[in-house]
Amino acid sequence: MSKLRVAVVGVGSLGQHHARIAAGSEATELVAVVDPAEARGLEIAGKFGTAWAASLDEVLGRVDAVQIAAPTGCHHALGLQVLAAGKHVIMEKPLAATQEEGRALLAALDRARAEVPGLVAAVGHLERFNPAVTALRAMGIKPHFAEAIRVSPFPMRSMEVDVIMDVMIHDLDLLLALIGRPVLSVEAVGVPVLTKYADLVNARIKFEGGAFATVTASRVARKKERVLRAFGANCYASLDFAAQKLEVLRLTVGPDGPAVSQEVVEIVEGEPLKLELEAFYQACLGRGEDIVTWHDAFAAMEVAHLVQVSVAESLASLEIRA
Ligand SMILES: NC(=O)c1ccc[n+]([C@@H]2O[C@H](COP(=O)([O-])OP(=O)(O)OC[C@H]3O[C@@H](n4cnc5c(N)ncnc54)[C@H](O)[C@@H]3O)[C@@H](O)[C@H]2O)c1
Repeated sequence: MSKLRVAVVGVGSLGQHHARIAAGSEATELVAVVDPAEARGLEIAGKFGTAWAASLDEVLGRVDAVQIAAPTGCHHALGLQVLAAGKHVIMEKPLAATQEEGRALLAALDRARAEVPGLVAAVGHLERFNPAVTALRAMGIKPHFAEAIRVSPFPMRSMEVDVIMDVMIHDLDLLLALIGRPVLSVEAVGVPVLTKYADLVNARIKFEGGAFATVTASRVARKKERVLRAFGANCYASLDFAAQKLEVLRLTVGPDGPAVSQEVVEIVEGEPLKLELEAFYQACLGRGEDIVTWHDAFAAMEVAHLVQVSVAESLASLEIRA
């Protein structure tokens, strides 16, 4: 079968890895990288043996699928352009910068699918492809309580969105997938530190059915930490995203009475972005459906919005301004 012809749009910090994976995949031909920054575009095009284009218009007619890794503020316009051309698309997370833009993208997807029924539209929630997450989900643990912590030093990028849309959105998407129930209520606090947006946020989220989560995201930490702790019936799972490590403690009752067993789950390590993109390519080629959909991603955005509203309320009542 012929290869999927792809273009990578935006080859900055993350997009360069999209280009590397597209250039190295058996499933794809990397037709071009698109970036308005000429020097950067040429550098990445040269590195991966492909062409550079300054704008998507120049290549859209020659590709089957587009990988968008441009800044979040550009997602809406680029997504509409790709859909209007009836091409498959994977959009980096978050799907869009605002609720309105997200809704407009979903409406455009409906229109595009009326013309091209099998159109694939995925979002780069790559933690869902983290092998430790796959292992956790395969164990079928339904958390009653979960704690997610995702903190890092200031990245000097993504300053046009808050830490909720940039960082916390990963865990909001994961919690929705793991708990599988809608959110009932959100209470959050957050503060701007280095940008005009919230850089450090803690949210307490209540789900239908009684499950509960606390989620902390910060881009003003000294060190990187990305962990999830999930507590279910008689078990506790501790997951380290970066180390791809999963430990599960279970209460067992044997002849000598109750005991706690501890298991370090065997994980076949893999690069989440590569696993995600290969799954997208297979979906475009009609060989699978293992993607995070635009509707999934919008659901995470809706929770992110509730967090933003709650943070704004808490900030409005803050009396210390110095
Ligand atoms: N999935 C993840 O874990 C993850 C990690 C990092 C970033 N991201 C997402 O990826 C996106 C890019 O983030 P980044 O950190 O790589 O940003 P970046 O600033 O490092 O790179 C963005 C690139 O896009 C280019 N660009 C700007 N406008 C463009 C346009 N209209 N068309 C094409 N290219 C354009 C810029 O010149 C730059 O090279 C953001 O949406 C971010 O949220 C996702």
